[in-house]
Amino acid sequence: MSTTVVILAAGKGTRMRSKLPKVLQPLAGRPLLGHVIETAKKIHAQNIITIFGHGGHLVQNAFSHEDIQWVEQTEQLGTGHAVKVTLPVLPKDGMSLILSGDVPCVQQSTLQRLVEVSTETGIGIVTLTLADSTGYGRIVRSNNKIQAIVEHKDATPEQHQIKEINTGIYCVSNAKLHEWLPKLNNNNAQGEYYLTDIIAMALEDGLEIASIQPEMAFEVEGVNDRVQLAALEREFQSYQAKELMKQGVHLIDPARFDLRGQLQVGQDVRIDINVIIEGECSFGDNVDIGAGCIIKNTHIAAGTKVQAYSIFDNAVIGENVQIGPFARLRPGANLAADVHIGNFVEVKNSSIGLGSKANHFSYLGDAEIGAGSNIGAGTITCNYDGANKHKTVIGDNAFIGTNNSLVAPVKIGHGATTGAGSVITHDVANNSLAVERAKQISKENYQRPQKTKN
Ligand code: UD1
Ligand code: CA
Repeated sequence: MSTTVVILAAGKGTRMRSKLPKVLQPLAGRPLLGHVIETAKKIHAQNIITIFGHGGHLVQNAFSHEDIQWVEQTEQLGTGHAVKVTLPVLPKDGMSLILSGDVPCVQQSTLQRLVEVSTETGIGIVTLTLADSTGYGRIVRSNNKIQAIVEHKDATPEQHQIKEINTGIYCVSNAKLHEWLPKLNNNNAQGEYYLTDIIAMALEDGLEIASIQPEMAFEVEGVNDRVQLAALEREFQSYQAKELMKQGVHLIDPARFDLRGQLQVGQDVRIDINVIIEGECSFGDNVDIGAGCIIKNTHIAAGTKVQAYSIFDNAVIGENVQIGPFARLRPGANLAADVHIGNFVEVKNSSIGLGSKANHFSYLGDAEIGAGSNIGAGTITCNYDGANKHKTVIGDNAFIGTNNSLVAPVKIGHGATTGAGSVITHDVANNSLAVERAKQISKENYQRPQKTKN
C-alpha cells in the first residue's frame, strides 16, 4: 500500500529564543527538519507533505531542492488542525505516516515497523515508556488495549502516574483522516485541536490502536529548547560514534567526536580526540587523524597520517601522505601519494605531485607542482596581483630554496633550483639555477653604534 509522509513543522518553538524557526535549528550540522525529510525519503513515500507556518518561507527555502509538497498552516491551532489543513492535498487512500519536524532522530526501521502494524489496524502510534513522563500525552490502556491519549494538562492525578507516553509519531489510514479530522473540536485545557483526539474516533469506529516502541529512546526525543537540543546532539553523536566503531574505526574517545555529515571508512582508521568531520568525507584503510582536526568534504586515501590541529575543506589526499600538525588544505587542494605537508602550510586550489614536500610555513595557491619536488620553508606563491589570480607551475624534481616569493604567472622547470630568499619573477628553465638577491656586503672589525648619554 502506498504511504504518504506528513511532517508537522508549523510550530513557533518559542522556547528556543531564536529568530531561526525551530525546525531549522541544526543537529549534527543539519536542520532538524532535514533529518526528518532524509528519513522520510528512505521510506520511499508516495509523497512528502510538510506543514509550515511560523518562519514561513525561510523553512520552505531551506529545502527548495527537495521534492516536497508544502502546505501552510497560517494559525497554529494545534496538531489536529495542522494535519487537517493537508486534507485538500492528502490522498484518499493509502496510509499517512505523521511525523514531527522537531523529532529528528527517528529511524527508518522504527517507521517501517509502525507502517506494518498500522496497515493491519488502520491506525498505529509509537509510544515510549519513560521514568519521568511529565509534559507528554499519556497512553491510557485497559486490558492492554489503548483507550485514549490524554494530554498532561488534561490528565487526572491517576493519569499523571502513567509512564507510557505518546511520541507524536503516527500512521493512520488516509480515508479515516478525511473522515475524522473535520470532526475535531478544541474543548480542552489548551483550547487546541488535538490530533490525539482521533484515538477516540478510531475506537468508536471499532478499530484497534496498534502501537510499537522505538529500539532507542533518543529516536523519539523532541527538541523544545537549547538544553534539549544540546542533549540530543550528544545522544545522536554517541549513536554515530558507535556505528563507526562497529565498522572498525578506532575512536580514542567517542564522547569527544563529532560527525556532522557522512563518513565512509576503510579498515583500522584511527581518530584521536576532538575531531570534527563535516559534509561528505571518506578515509581509506589505516588513515590516522590526530587530535583537534576539522575535516570537511575531504577524501583521504589509505595510509595517510594527519597530525594534530589540521584543517581541511574540499581537499583530495592520496595514499601515505603526511600532513600537519597545523596544516590547512583549502578547496581544490589535491595531494598525490607520499606528499608531505608540514606545519603552517596552506594549500589552495593546487595539485602537488607524487612525493613532493612542503614541510614548513608556506602558502601554495593556484599552483601545479610535479613529482619529487621540494618547496623550501617560508616559500610563498604570489598568486594575486590585486585584481586577478595567476598560476605557478613547478616541474618534477625541482628544489625551491627557503623563503622564495614565486611571482605568478611563473614557471619553474624540471630539475630547476632556486636560491634561498629569491623573488622569482621570470620563468626558470629545466635543470638551471636561479638566484635573485642583493650581494652580501662584509665589513671586518665592524663597530656597532654606541648609545649616547644626555
Ligand atoms: C504533542 C502531543 C502529545 C505528545 C507530544 C510528543 C498533541 C495534542 N499532543 O504534544 O501527546 O506526547 O506531542 O512530543 O498532539 N505543530 C504544528 N501546528 C500546530 C501545533 C503544532 O505544526 O498548530 C507542530 C509543532 O511544530 C511540532 C509538532 O506539531 O513539530 C508537535 O507540537 P507540540 O506543540 O510540540 O505538541 P506537544 O504539546 O508537545
Ligand atoms: Ca503544545
